[in-house]
Amino acid sequence: NNHTYCTIVLFGATGDLAKRKLFPSIYNLYRKGLLSEHFAVVGVARREWSNEVFRQNVSASIKEANITAEEQDLERFLTHFRYLSLNVTNAASYQDLNALLCNVEEEFTIPGNRIFYMAMAPEFFGTIGSYLKSEGITNTKGWTRLIIEKPFGRDLESAQKLNDEIRHAFEEDEIYRIDHYLGKEMVQNIGVIRFANALFESLWNNRRIANVQITSSESLGVEDRGGYYDTSGALRDMVQNHMLQMVALLAMEPPIRLATEEVRSEKIKALRSLRPMTAEEVDQYFVRGQYGPGIVSGKEVPGYRSEEKVNPNSKTETFVAGKLLIDNHRWAGVPIYIRTGKRMKEKSTEIVVQFKDLPMNLYNKFEEQLHPNLLIIHIQPDEGISIVLNGKRIGASEETIPVKLDYCNNCEDGINTPEAYEKLLYDAIQGDATNFTHWDEVALSWKFVDIISKTWETSSVSFPNYESGSMGPKAADELLEKDGFSWWPVS
Ligand code: BG6
Repeated sequence: NNHTYCTIVLFGATGDLAKRKLFPSIYNLYRKGLLSEHFAVVGVARREWSNEVFRQNVSASIKEANITAEEQDLERFLTHFRYLSLNVTNAASYQDLNALLCNVEEEFTIPGNRIFYMAMAPEFFGTIGSYLKSEGITNTKGWTRLIIEKPFGRDLESAQKLNDEIRHAFEEDEIYRIDHYLGKEMVQNIGVIRFANALFESLWNNRRIANVQITSSESLGVEDRGGYYDTSGALRDMVQNHMLQMVALLAMEPPIRLATEEVRSEKIKALRSLRPMTAEEVDQYFVRGQYGPGIVSGKEVPGYRSEEKVNPNSKTETFVAGKLLIDNHRWAGVPIYIRTGKRMKEKSTEIVVQFKDLPMNLYNKFEEQLHPNLLIIHIQPDEGISIVLNGKRIGASEETIPVKLDYCNNCEDGINTPEAYEKLLYDAIQGDATNFTHWDEVALSWKFVDIISKTWETSSVSFPNYESGSMGPKAADELLEKDGFSWWPVS
């Protein structure tokens, strides 16, 4: 199976992502036997580290991730790791890199397959890409692939520029744009729930669905990422990528096959059907917020403007809620509501599909409406599905009560575990790009989001407007109230 024998060249090997996610993920793959002995990891960064220091760091990160590692197993694993201090703007550095790569390829019998993983600040992606090509590093007997982390630009224009740069060295089908939400178990389950269940697929349209709600709330603040976050905000950080990817998976038509290009083309079609807004309409459909001080999990926390490396007058949004409409046959008229924010009440990602009411209510004499049927997809921290139905209240004759059927996939704490990265890395090694975003998806998402950020940049706003520990600003509730709905509490 030597088409999966490969070297992972990790740019940003001394960084946070490598430490928190990538090393533990690579180790998990190794431990599970999903990586043969024919692999190598070449860590690249500016810092002057020796192989030894690098390996110590890899080892520490695996232990910190609470993975039980057998000492011997880990020792052997670490022999596959090399480190190179690289000046990204110096051609000679790349020659050293190439020599090192040839070296490990010989040592571990790897047929020139190379994955270049960009886990670092995006300003050098383009430069690195050009050198990889000009110095012949992408010219191997095996395959070459690029895995690239967010942020993929900060608007359509910069994303396009970045894409053009990396396309000098890699073809579209060699580019794996990571959206770690696509590696989450229950996000991958959306397709199965929809397309493997007659019960849902036959109801999955505007005749039966009243609205869809996607919430991704976080209780943490910006932590030590104030510098990045203050130039980004929730719209770019969460909506352009993770939230719109979930929308696409919920809204897309069934693909004719589970092949990468079929799934992607359905997602692209769904994103193309998003109704664009004019600048004047933005405030009608989108709400922004920024957290003030408050209490989260019993602890007092400061407001966003007092966070480290954040401008004390910052207008950056830490919360976004929006109403999306999809103009196609299946979805015309069905609002899809999204909301995401930092320093909210709890950490939870959840999708609620609310079905339409029946034409009349035979029961509950004093209440006009039955409880609506709901399908809830719990993405994290719990992983599972709930269905809310109506049942008869025991004893009383004509009264109904909502009954909740819960299926729990994994009730352990699954937040941001390395598993998403583990799965995605494995897919990239296998050459399966289905759970990575195609350029067209990125471009369409930016196009949708750009009009919102441009409008917000030029209009005034009074921040902070929600307390830490709350579910966001009041305007986010009013967004649904205008349509006669309300957010279902996250469960
Ligand atoms: C990242 C964002 O993409 O996703 C972070 O940059 C955010 O700001 C994170 O906290 C949320 O991911 P998860 O897996 O914890 O929901």
